[in-house]
Amino acid sequence: MRHFLDTIDLQRKELARVMELATQRQEVLGWPLADYGVALIFEKPSNRTRQSMEMAVVQLGGHPIFTRGEEVGFDVRETVEDITRIMAGYHAMIAARVFDHSVLERMASLNDVPIINMLSDKSHPLQSLADILTMREEFGSLKGKTVAWIGDYNNVARSLAEGCALEGAHIRLGCPSGYGASDDELARISALGAASISQSTSASQAADGAHAVHTDVFVSMGQESETERRLRDFAEFQVDDTVMAAAATDAIFMHCLPAHRGVEVTSEVIDGPASRVVRQAHNRMHAARGLLAFLCEVNDITKGDTK
Ligand code: CP
Ligand code: NVA
Repeated sequence: MRHFLDTIDLQRKELARVMELATQRQEVLGWPLADYGVALIFEKPSNRTRQSMEMAVVQLGGHPIFTRGEEVGFDVRETVEDITRIMAGYHAMIAARVFDHSVLERMASLNDVPIINMLSDKSHPLQSLADILTMREEFGSLKGKTVAWIGDYNNVARSLAEGCALEGAHIRLGCPSGYGASDDELARISALGAASISQSTSASQAADGAHAVHTDVFVSMGQESETERRLRDFAEFQVDDTVMAAAATDAIFMHCLPAHRGVEVTSEVIDGPASRVVRQAHNRMHAARGLLAFLCEVNDITKGDTK
């Protein structure tokens, strides 16, 4: 059974297939999820992920059921395994946003239904699909393009780096000391096929000549107690006009959102002509639809099957 816990759960050709499915019309995709439910469980807040996943399920003919994490209570009300086994009888797939990535791994290890990561402490692979879709729309192909990540090498960054490596892009990380990728992580991303990967502790150096400049919040959900220290440590990593000036002339700015204007990015940049954040957010739905259609394909889920 195929799950989607990380971007690298897709091989290079499969990522291309997801991108193809993301751009296909409903007439081509059909209704593979007709008569099926898809469970969407959220231990943390969400706007884009919930809305885009619900609509993607609907567009494939299925019925999404949103559930708050505390309602099911992973390992509190009942075990992760019991919750998964029961829901697998109602749904074609289960998607979850969790604090602890190992919860997703436990769900997937049962191999009852495909499990989808809607963000964990480790990764945010659905976001990376939308990011790649958006950059492909801009550049045609990511091969040989330079993608800069400024800020925290966090869940979003890790998934983006995996996706950019599969696409053959150059990756430039600009992170404060202590918040970057380890040497092992740099080697892992390189081995996935990145044209190159380098890391510095300078935002402008990372952005130098980049075709796309990405950032994210400095304080992720669950890290609120570290806010004061993080805001101090990331003070020099705001994406502003100076950082964007170091990038290629027609460089685009991207952010998974939600954003904090005046913290990780200035209003001038995120609301300026280089910004693609709205398109990027809208692409969450198209990318999610492509991924769900792909999981139906590879797991032989087709309209009319009974469980
Ligand atoms: N980018 C993203 O995942 O947004 P939400 O947290 O609103 O889902
Ligand atoms: N890194 C952020 C992404 C939010 C979509 C977080 O984990 O809160």
